[in-house]
Parts: sequence; C-alpha cells; structure tokens
Amino acid sequence: MKLKKWCKYFIALIIIIILVVIGYFCFFYHKETKDKTTFVEKEKVNKTIEVLKADNLYDSKYSHDYKQIEYVENENFSKYVNDFLKKGYAATTVNQIFKNLSAEELDYVFKNEKMNLEDYLEYRNFDVDKYSRYEKYAKDNKDLKLQDVITRVNLKLDYNYYENATEISNPSDINVLVNKYNYLPSNYVPANLTKIKSSNTNATMIKEAADAFEKLVAEAKKAGFTLLATTAYRGYNFQKILYDKYVKEDGIAKADTYSARPGFSEHQTGLTVDVRNPAIKDARLSDENYAWIKEHCSEFGFIIRYPHNTTDVTGYIEESWHLRYLGIETAKKVMDSNLTYDEYYDLYIAH
Ligand code: DAL
Ligand code: ZN
Repeated sequence: MKLKKWCKYFIALIIIIILVVIGYFCFFYHKETKDKTTFVEKEKVNKTIEVLKADNLYDSKYSHDYKQIEYVENENFSKYVNDFLKKGYAATTVNQIFKNLSAEELDYVFKNEKMNLEDYLEYRNFDVDKYSRYEKYAKDNKDLKLQDVITRVNLKLDYNYYENATEISNPSDINVLVNKYNYLPSNYVPANLTKIKSSNTNATMIKEAADAFEKLVAEAKKAGFTLLATTAYRGYNFQKILYDKYVKEDGIAKADTYSARPGFSEHQTGLTVDVRNPAIKDARLSDENYAWIKEHCSEFGFIIRYPHNTTDVTGYIEESWHLRYLGIETAKKVMDSNLTYDEYYDLYIAH
C-alpha cells in the first residue's frame, strides 16, 4: 500500500528531529570533556602558583613560566621549580623533568649544573645519574644515535671490558644477561641439566632448552641438513681450562675476542648451545645452514647471540653457531628487533 504524501513528510521530519537531537548531544558531550580537561590543566597550573605563593617562593620574574608548569605532588616542588628555572630549563622541560625522573633523580638535577636534559628525556631508559657518561660517549661516538648512546652506556660499554662488572643475582632466570660486565657466581650450576640427544659429545642443557633444541634439529633435518650440539653447558672450571688454553695459544687480547673468561660465559647458564653440521669440512655450518637457522631458530625459542657485525656491542667476533635459548616469545621479539640480546635486554627487559 502506498503511503500517503503527508505521511512521508511526517517520517522525514521525525528523522531530521532525531538527527538534530543526536548532533546536539554529541556537541555538548565533546565540549564538556574538553572543558573538563582544560579545567584540570588550569587547576594544576593555578595550584603551581598557589603552592609557590604559600611557600613564599613566588618570584614574579617567572610568572609566565609558572603558568605553564603543572603542579606535581612533591614536598620540594616550589624549591625545585625555582631552581630549575633559575638554571635556565624551559618550563616545558621542567614539566618533563617532573614527569620522567624519580625522587633521587630530581635531587640530582637540583644539585648539579644545568644539563642538556631536553635532548635526553624522551629516550628510553635514560638515567640522569649517567648524564656525564652519556655526554662523553656521544662525543666519542659521533655517528651513534642518542638512543644507542644511552643503551650502550647503560650496558657499561663506556667502561673497559670486565671493569665494574657485576655478579648476577638471578642466574637461573631464563632472560639472564651474561656478558663482559655481568658474570655468574663461580659455584652456579643450573638445575635440570639433561643430555642432548643430537650431540656426539654428551653435551647437556637445561631440559626445556634441550627439548626445544631437538625440535630445531628435526626441522633442520626436514630442510636437508644435520645439526649436532658440539658443546652446550660448560661449568666454571671447564670454561677456565678452555680460556687459559686459548690465552696460552693466542694471547689474552685475541682470546678475549672469541672466548669468555670463566664466569662470563653464557654456556654456564645451560641455556646455550654451539652447533655444527658434521657434513661441512673446515667450518661449523654452511652459509645456507646459517641463513636457515637465522630465519627459523626463534620458532623454537633460540636466538643468534653473536650476530654479524655486532662486535662493538657484544665484544665478541661473529659466532653463527652459538645459539641462546630464551623461549619462543622473547626469541621472536629479539630476532625481529635486529638488536643484539644485550641491547634488547637493556631496552625492554632490564628496566
Ligand atoms: N665463545 C663464547 C663467547 C663463550 O666462550 O662463551
Ligand atoms: Zn658458544
């Protein structure tokens, strides 16, 4: 049945009214939220001025800056605000300082000369206590991006290897970082060491890692090559025998580029395995084997711990055969990041 003409007009009118009502509410909802935000910001700024006045530290010279500084709960707020402005930090930097730094760090900024904090505050894991080390390292490594400077100094790469090294307090943590600045207690032996089936040297690893390794070997077999574990867990004393032998043969400087000192070897965690393809002569793997491992190892929870061209971070020459178990999730993230594990650890795990 055809609707009468007036009936059509009536329906159209109702639809228009509904749309107008919806539009009206949307507009006022948006305005109200906006007003609320502006109100909160204004309130914080007003509080800044209020608190400074209450503390008798309001200085009309900085009235314009005060208006841009958001109040934060801190017993030294007024004292800090004036000091930071006096030192020459911009009001926006003062806001960032309060937002990013811990109580001790705020105190550090207060007690020290003006720094280039504007350059640093937005970066990951910037630690103001290390400011002068960052500045020096950046000056000595002009081609590095600031984030890399921060990460490398956090990793202590501005110190000589083995200098200021720390004993690891969580040696059985699956994410443990062992490198030239972090060493394992000499008596640390991982629990659950299990014989690796695909090894002609009775190599052992932590069970979870050994099981994952067998899966990797099986998949490599499908891809057409054999993988064997040549060495995996190495106790402190065995690492010492190895390292001393290399030093005798090659001297300390060279030995340090390919062998870890006792305590400083990841092999002592039971999470690491050196692999080889027994069909290859004079090398552990073929280039094709290596390319395959690089692409697939993380699917089984492993990473390449000393990749190509990373000696400046790891301190070791490339070791295409040295795999580290981290579990599938982390291993995938590390391999996808294209970072060394040292860098990944500082950026995403340590802090
Ligand atoms: N070759 C590696 C760095 C080690 O000795 O642990
Ligand atoms: Zn190794």
